[in-house]
Amino acid sequence: MTKFTVISGSSSEYLARKLAKTLGANLLKSQLRVFPDGESKITLKGNLQKNKIIVIQSTYPPVDENLIQTLSIISKAKEFGTEVIAVIPYMGYARQDREFLSGEIITMKVIANLFKSVGTSRIIVVDIHSVIGLKYFKIKSSNVTAIPDLAKYFSKLKLKNPLVVSPDQGGKERAKEFARILKIGHITLEKQRDRKTGKVKIKATNFDEIRGRDLILVDDMISTGGSIIKATEFLKKQKCNRVFVACTHALLRNNAEKKIKKAGVTKIISTNTIPGKTSLVDVSETIAKAIM
Ligand code: R5P
Repeated sequence: MTKFTVISGSSSEYLARKLAKTLGANLLKSQLRVFPDGESKITLKGNLQKNKIIVIQSTYPPVDENLIQTLSIISKAKEFGTEVIAVIPYMGYARQDREFLSGEIITMKVIANLFKSVGTSRIIVVDIHSVIGLKYFKIKSSNVTAIPDLAKYFSKLKLKNPLVVSPDQGGKERAKEFARILKIGHITLEKQRDRKTGKVKIKATNFDEIRGRDLILVDDMISTGGSIIKATEFLKKQKCNRVFVACTHALLRNNAEKKIKKAGVTKIISTNTIPGKTSLVDVSETIAKAIM
């Protein structure tokens, strides 16, 4: 018998297959049926055996549905598993990790408690929005980064005197690491977000060094594209050459890809934590390394 069993939630089937192959693990699928009243019915396809069980599922939209599915699978896995490891490549709700405005609920904390209560022994996430979110998990937790995988992809592109750009201070370290791997420079923009409306703007600053150069905007995630669009418009005004985007999680909601391209982005490259047209970088080996 192999050391691990991988159970795939319905949102991460491709990644689960790749992970199981890398680990030489058994793979079990789950089936999700959503009733007209919105309730989910989850069925595991195959028999569970006493083993270390890895449950893999990203909680991208429909977030709550995927979350309930994940927690339900873990609770079933707990009946058989000697250990249940939750791999959540994209962790939804990770941006709700602080009480930014008075009265806001730290939903990340609620979710962390739920993972523990259903029997998760250990949780692994990929490029969580901020590691602050991990402190709520009272179980062993780790954040693995896809930045080296993304940088490797970009190292094969022919770029003109490239420079890495972080759209905000929060992403500075990620961008710095990306730039370090590619042995190129980096700058950080100052993004301001209105906490009530969610609107973003970039603080006006002159960056003489970007003129005529290809830029790589590095971010953890794209949701509506607002941050990337504002950053691109700002950079284009300062006469850069092409703008590329490297991000771990491309949610691309509300026609974001089209809007981002319209703003002047040449190409968006993301990982397969969220499957889609732009997810050209595989993170299964990076996850496997964290498990072994
Ligand atoms: C925020 O700080 C994050 O790092 C992302 O930049 C942001 O959440 C992306 O969201 P949107 O695409 O809606 O601007």
